[in-house]
Amino acid sequence: MDKFVIECGARLVGEVQTGGAKNAVLPLMAAGLLVDDWLTLTNVPRLKDIDTLCGLMRFMGAEIDGDPATGTLKVRASKITKPEAPYDLVKTMRASILVLGPLVARCKEARVSLPGGCAIGARPINLHLAGLEKMGATIEIEHGYIHIRAEKLIGAKIYLDAPTVTGTENLMLAAVLADGQTVIENAAMEPEVVCLADALNKMGARITGAGTDIIKIEGVTKLKPVEVEVIPDRIEAGTFMIGAAMTRGNVLIKDCPINYLETLAVKLKETGTTITEEEGGVRVIGDWPIRSVDFRTQPYPAFPTDMQAQMMAMMTISGGLSVISETVFENRFMHVSELKRMGADIKIDGRVAIVTGVERLSGAPLMATDLRASASLILAGLVAEGTTEVSRIYHLDRGYENIEKKLGGLGANITRVKDEAKKK
Ligand code: EPZ
Repeated sequence: MDKFVIECGARLVGEVQTGGAKNAVLPLMAAGLLVDDWLTLTNVPRLKDIDTLCGLMRFMGAEIDGDPATGTLKVRASKITKPEAPYDLVKTMRASILVLGPLVARCKEARVSLPGGCAIGARPINLHLAGLEKMGATIEIEHGYIHIRAEKLIGAKIYLDAPTVTGTENLMLAAVLADGQTVIENAAMEPEVVCLADALNKMGARITGAGTDIIKIEGVTKLKPVEVEVIPDRIEAGTFMIGAAMTRGNVLIKDCPINYLETLAVKLKETGTTITEEEGGVRVIGDWPIRSVDFRTQPYPAFPTDMQAQMMAMMTISGGLSVISETVFENRFMHVSELKRMGADIKIDGRVAIVTGVERLSGAPLMATDLRASASLILAGLVAEGTTEVSRIYHLDRGYENIEKKLGGLGANITRVKDEAKKK
């Protein structure tokens, strides 16, 4: 398994380009199952999760084309020979569950592996399934698989107990070709949900309310394939904002969707970071001492859970005490034990972490456990005394394209070391 070797001391300075949003691309690819000709996506990053979903869609009989060098990805599901998502594919990327809604809408029957949990939590999909049953689908779960059937989905009023992002997206993808109106209440309001709704409307769907907690979908009989530009990745941009802030850097983040990052920007400004909008991007200038801040992760537009680990890394070298509450996932503090090995002072009580800033972290060999935890360890390595090694960075490759090149371009001393075994 590859690892990153990071030498300390760099202040991130320069310009970096934000790529397309992983969490927008995945539901958009699933939307390709609803039409029988080429759906074209642009501004698509090269990420492991996207490759995994390409593999699953090819398995089902869809064609995948495009040019990764230009960020173009094309999906054509003129025929779906196997409306199935097998465990060995779904287990590596649980967002594969997004094929469930479009498959049952298009093929009337599908067999999709239960995604199972992951490092950060149980990740249930009960709300996805309950919503589809409300729309008339019959669902049986056997041997770890969801077997879903529906001659024709019927529009329904669905209340989500939790504003699930992929749950909202799955139900939207199922409802666009259903008979009648579907109303999703307590819907997720993330920008990626809006991006999907805009794309589906461009394809001929009739969706209103995306971006609010009530989304209405009037079913139509057919959709047409279109070209869609993927929105910038707010979590990648936010990760670079924090990197600039905690290294006393000065970075222009190009294509930074600052309108999607308001709560992060507010918190960073409270730490003493300067954030200004410029032609083509957002400039972030860090300063020490870093003032400590408290924050709680909650569904959009509140502070994003996907930025919690990165912000915690910054708080470990703040001048005070920071209370961090993770309200979305039950086990999203896997980075804490690794940060403590670097000398961070962090105490955990359930879903609350108390971080007391220290003068300096010290470099150490670390192990990545999940996608965003990996990013926080790299950020910590940038400011730690000495050398930091982060292993199992396959977690990182799932959601960050060429992060070592992008950070290196800003002056970071970070090298990817290939796994010895792989070299043989
Ligand atoms: C999406 O995951 C993102 N993934 C996650 O990003 C992100 O952390 C998460 O939303 C929250 O913002 C993609 O979009 C591909 P949820 P998702 O369903 O949809 C509970 C990353 O790092 N819940 O919104 O799986 C659940 O337990 C990833 O890029 C149910 O109870 O998250 C959790 O507490 C990590 N029943 C809460 O809702 C359900 O049926 C939010 O989960 C579904 C969810």
